[in-house]
Amino acid sequence: MSCFPVRLQEVRQAVSVCLRSLTVWAVRLTGSKYGCGGGGCGACTVMLSRYDPQTKHIHHFSVNACLMPVCQLHGAAVTTVEGIGSTKTRLHPVQERIAKAHGSQCGFCTPGMVMSIYTLLRNKPQPTMEEIRETLGGNLCRCTGYRPIIEGYRTFCEVISSFISGFHHAVGESLEPFCVHESDSNQIMGKLQTSGKEKLLPLDPTQELIFPPELIRMAESEERATQTFRGERMTWISPISLDELLQLKSQHPQAPVVMGNTNLGLDIKFKGVIHPIIISGFRVRELFEVTEKPEGVCIGAGSSLSTVRSVLEKCVCSLPAEHTQTLAALLEQLSHVAGEQIRNVATLGGNIASAYPNSDLNPVLAAGNADHLCVIPEGKREVPLDKDFFVGFGKTVLKPDEIVLSVFIPVSRKGEVVRAFRHAPRKENALATVNAGLRVWFEEGSNVVKEMSVYYGGVGPCTVSAERTVQQVIGRPWNEATLSDAYRALVDEVTLGASAPGGKVMFRRSLTLSLLFRFYLHVLQHLKDTVRPPSVTCRRFSDADSDVPSGQSEQDPVGRAVQHQAALSHATGEAVYCDDFPRTQGELFLSVVTSARAHARITHIDVSRALSMPGVVDVFTADDIPGKKFRSFTGIDEEILAQGEVTCVGQMVCAVVADTKPHAKLASAAVKVHYEDLPDRIFTVEVAVEKRSFFLPQREIQRGDVTKAFQEADHVYEEIRLGGQEHFYMETQSMLVIPLGEEKEMKVYASTQHPTMVQEAVAETLGIPSSRVSCHVKRIGGAFGGKVTKTSILASITALAAWRSERPVRCVLDRGEDMLITGARHPVLGKYKVGFMSDGRITAADVRYYANAGHTPDESVLKILLHMDNAYNILNLCSQSAACKTNLPSNTAFRGFGVPQTLMVIENMVNDVAMVLGRPAEEIREKNMYKETSLTHYKMEFDPENLLRCWEECKERSELDRRRLDVARFNQQNRWKKRGIAVIPIKYGIGFAEGFLNQAAALVHIYKDGSVLVSHGGTEMGQGIHTKVQQVASRELDVPLSMIHISETSTSSVPNTCPSAASFGTDANGMAVKDACQTLYKRLEPIRKQDPNGTWQSWVQLGHDLYMDWVKQEGRPYAYFTYAACCSEVELDCLTGEYRTVRTDLVADIGQSINPSIDIGQIEGAFMQGLGLYTMEELKFSPSGVLYTRGPGQYKIPAVCDVPLQFNVYLLSGSHNPHAIYSSKGIGEPTLFLGSSVFFALKEAVAAARSDAGLSGPFTLHSPATPERACVACSTCFTQMIPQAETETTQPWALELP
Ligand SMILES: Cc1cc2nc3c(=O)[nH]c(=O)nc-3n(C[C@H](O)[C@H](O)[C@H](O)COP(=O)(O)OP(=O)(O)OC[C@H]3O[C@@H](n4cnc5c(N)ncnc54)[C@H](O)[C@@H]3O)c2cc1C
Ligand code: FES
Ligand code: FES
Repeated sequence: MSCFPVRLQEVRQAVSVCLRSLTVWAVRLTGSKYGCGGGGCGACTVMLSRYDPQTKHIHHFSVNACLMPVCQLHGAAVTTVEGIGSTKTRLHPVQERIAKAHGSQCGFCTPGMVMSIYTLLRNKPQPTMEEIRETLGGNLCRCTGYRPIIEGYRTFCEVISSFISGFHHAVGESLEPFCVHESDSNQIMGKLQTSGKEKLLPLDPTQELIFPPELIRMAESEERATQTFRGERMTWISPISLDELLQLKSQHPQAPVVMGNTNLGLDIKFKGVIHPIIISGFRVRELFEVTEKPEGVCIGAGSSLSTVRSVLEKCVCSLPAEHTQTLAALLEQLSHVAGEQIRNVATLGGNIASAYPNSDLNPVLAAGNADHLCVIPEGKREVPLDKDFFVGFGKTVLKPDEIVLSVFIPVSRKGEVVRAFRHAPRKENALATVNAGLRVWFEEGSNVVKEMSVYYGGVGPCTVSAERTVQQVIGRPWNEATLSDAYRALVDEVTLGASAPGGKVMFRRSLTLSLLFRFYLHVLQHLKDTVRPPSVTCRRFSDADSDVPSGQSEQDPVGRAVQHQAALSHATGEAVYCDDFPRTQGELFLSVVTSARAHARITHIDVSRALSMPGVVDVFTADDIPGKKFRSFTGIDEEILAQGEVTCVGQMVCAVVADTKPHAKLASAAVKVHYEDLPDRIFTVEVAVEKRSFFLPQREIQRGDVTKAFQEADHVYEEIRLGGQEHFYMETQSMLVIPLGEEKEMKVYASTQHPTMVQEAVAETLGIPSSRVSCHVKRIGGAFGGKVTKTSILASITALAAWRSERPVRCVLDRGEDMLITGARHPVLGKYKVGFMSDGRITAADVRYYANAGHTPDESVLKILLHMDNAYNILNLCSQSAACKTNLPSNTAFRGFGVPQTLMVIENMVNDVAMVLGRPAEEIREKNMYKETSLTHYKMEFDPENLLRCWEECKERSELDRRRLDVARFNQQNRWKKRGIAVIPIKYGIGFAEGFLNQAAALVHIYKDGSVLVSHGGTEMGQGIHTKVQQVASRELDVPLSMIHISETSTSSVPNTCPSAASFGTDANGMAVKDACQTLYKRLEPIRKQDPNGTWQSWVQLGHDLYMDWVKQEGRPYAYFTYAACCSEVELDCLTGEYRTVRTDLVADIGQSINPSIDIGQIEGAFMQGLGLYTMEELKFSPSGVLYTRGPGQYKIPAVCDVPLQFNVYLLSGSHNPHAIYSSKGIGEPTLFLGSSVFFALKEAVAAARSDAGLSGPFTLHSPATPERACVACSTCFTQMIPQAETETTQPWALELP
């Protein structure tokens, strides 16, 4: 049952439980996924339906199941992804289209995407493109890059021409989103559409699930009475009238009034806030009343933000424009608040009462003179929402027993202008960094200001009023002189200390000025740009037309755009991930206790309280490990659990095992670890270098005579800092260990890229042979390098728990824990000196790389130096790299494994040369590129022909020459917005420099019924390896694809597997499967003739002769190179640093693709991850080494709003590769770096802004080029007005890494 009615009698036991737990635990529906638990990712999206007995209408709306309290569900029908269609019965078109459009890779986000769009279609069967895009705003995907998802769902639009982006053109002057004019729908739809809509399942609204009639009957006849539910730690009371609510509130003034639970729920879940009593206002009708009056609109405080939006939209349409200023400003903000799922439940009253410092609504309500009606048991009072209303962080003047009943928003008066602005780290689904609500009222017929109000959010503990600034303006004409005085007053009035929470002090202060300036321009109505951006055409992606030879048989799937083998299982919620395995009898849950100190001696661990708590079975430390107490990575030991000393915050200290997850979590919080702080904490690479704190070996490479070359050239010294990057795989670290009870055998189910490492780690920890441990991987919900080393350690701990208790034990990290414990991509400091001639030739380079490794070596000795030449033939170079040992969590492999950092430093260096010479960067890049068969700096010979072809084709396809002129013209004509364009090449070595890692094995079973089961060493994490391997087996065995099955990766089927990483998975495992199948085919041919149902099994090891000799500084560390080039153009808003990628053209040489759709999916997904790395994603640590960014609320990965407006991917034709299977090439990692084309385009746009400010030449722009950095680098008059913070005396809020 996957559309189920909820009657509260059934959930009495589940008072403090959220809907997702209910679906998974009670109803056994695992389709909705856990990605964050806090409403930030959309993976858990389900549809709620409610019947309103008054209007007789059924409302359908999407919600995040992870935040929806079960007690709030009375009378609702819940529809999960399983309910709308299945592979066993009938698929729903929403499920089919995302699969056919290749919009699912690891599939973990897919059920959430499906349910968001399903709900939209239930309400509007033919949505617009903008509605689809907006609906997906609350759903994150880390794999696909979103394009195929949008393309798949675009097929539901009747009218295709619409907006693709809500990005507002430039500084807000035109307020027009970029338009997508789609002249040829067949082109846009790509293969999905050209294959004919008739081939897609039609959407038939009459076939949808009906709302359970029993719920209608219940709603019609229900006796309305207060409901009370008592749980273990909380009592939930749900009154039905305002009087009762007030009575309860006066009896329990400290009890919160829960509405959408989007604030309260987060406090309870993540801050451990305990409310013994919660009062729900959900059934109190008075809280939902809406009244429109000539003076304004009165909206019930219980109305959801989506309802508020509809009400305001209606008013704005019906009222004369002069009356709609405040309403329109509120609407503008509402369209950016959170994602649709949150807006559907979060309430207006909740937003006001929560008094968030960066609430988007409060500054506008305050500026627009809104009042709200509060009620207390003794009566009603009207309270203005003004400067006196907000009194501190999360505090208002409301008395504890007071309720907000409604909010009155007055219509604007003649001559009044109201606007709202916000700037956030991501355009959508992100809390604002700074927002503002501004209002001005002019004396009739003049430009003299009669009244004004200015409110800001994000610049203090609560919404603040800039009263003294306003006084500078009132009574004066609206002109530059007035505003100049206002800016000066504002700088003095709205201040932030150097250590203000949230950091970005200078940026936030400058935003207060630039938002006021925007308002000024808006009011003047002079700010409209004379030049509009060219309309952007979204063309079809060159995806599916593979180079299949004309004679290739129809049955042979190699080279064809075959849908991901599990796409339909993903889309129906049937795909099984580690945590979806049913609970087994007696199963326990493990929770880890982590260090709260960065460097300290553990003096005592007090587990007595934890052990006495309900359900707790065991607590153990490193002393209890029977086998090896550490794991060795790259030859250096890493403790499994801390022994005596901790060296970072987040290091695992001990583990708690209990009967349920909540019990384990509560008990782990009760373990008291006593510390004695140790001196010499090191957090940054600068301090590490100063203290010589390194992991060995340090690497170096030299070529030519650098000293001599420098004597003959001009030099530039520079450095660039690159921040780290959180993997943010959607499925957090998960494992289940089952002791088999015989011969010490352990079965480990884990979400890992490296089953063999897990197997070895568990065996060593328990002190048993590897043959007793088997590791099984069904599929992984994304990994990107982050599920190798830390997964092995976590699996060892979980196995120890299973070993000691002799019961199955599960461990699934919460998002916050995962981000805290498992490390990230290495932040790197790159320092360089480059020598060049006046014609742009680079003759010498001296480059040093310092990676912040964290507290253990993990895999930190990166292949940085091998890639430092990228596409350039620099004859004299020397280079060194060091992995710095610091007291931060240990960083680890992440897609590209050091290469994206190396290349960034080199490309920045080349860019600097262009800036010094005042030449276009592509000219300098081209001049220095490898031109003919050459030796790399480690003496490996290669032919750059395809690199040059990619480069030329990219320039041509992107129309670089013409667009460069357009960009220059645009920049000349615009002061506050600038464009930049950049082309970046890449040469990327594929394979592991360590020869032993370049091997694979496969086991192929042919069953009597002719079906084939293939096992290989690669793990499926969304990269499509199983699909490609199926294609290989299908070709080699000459059987249809449908007969090949891949069930899981298991160390008991294929031993000694290598990690699925380094873009090498398909190369190695595909070749092993090919060999196995060929042998099978050959050997079985005679037998098959006699007995076509025979069986056979084998495995093949494939070795490549790859090595790197670091002493001789030469080698052949890679089997071959993958090449690509990418051109991106951006438009930057210099006032806020916000930018939009206008267009990206990417040409990649991936040989003869085995499956072009999967490869293009990998390219796009990697590009978007690179865009995140270089322009958005920021890990923030406190000065004492505590990670602040522990969820999607604080850490922003690209969302659907960040996809380039036009994104063209082309596969280089006619490319062959003798070194990999069927002449294909690895692609998972290389194109991530091409996201840097956006960084360099941004840098160019910043340079244009600086030029207007009279600044020229190279300048520092560290990565990621966040809006903060881009805005500050623009050096506008507003950033210059902010006095420098006193950083010497005050500690900033966050560490400056690396
Ligand atoms: C993922 C996510 C993204 C978000 N993004 C944004 C954003 O971009 N911009 C933004 O402004 N906000 C954002 N928010 C915050 C969100 O808007 C608020 O959490 C929400 O409006 C609170 O309403 P609620 O009904 O969920 O309150 P609840 O969580 O139910 O209650 C919150 C508090 O308000 C009190 N309360 C509720 N109703 C009343 C009432 N009628 N009278 C008196 N007290 C009351 C309760 O006692 C409680 O203390 C986001 C939240 C999440 C989870
Ligand atoms: S798991 Fe619910 S929104 Fe992320
Ligand atoms: S397919 Fe979206 S997160 Fe993997």
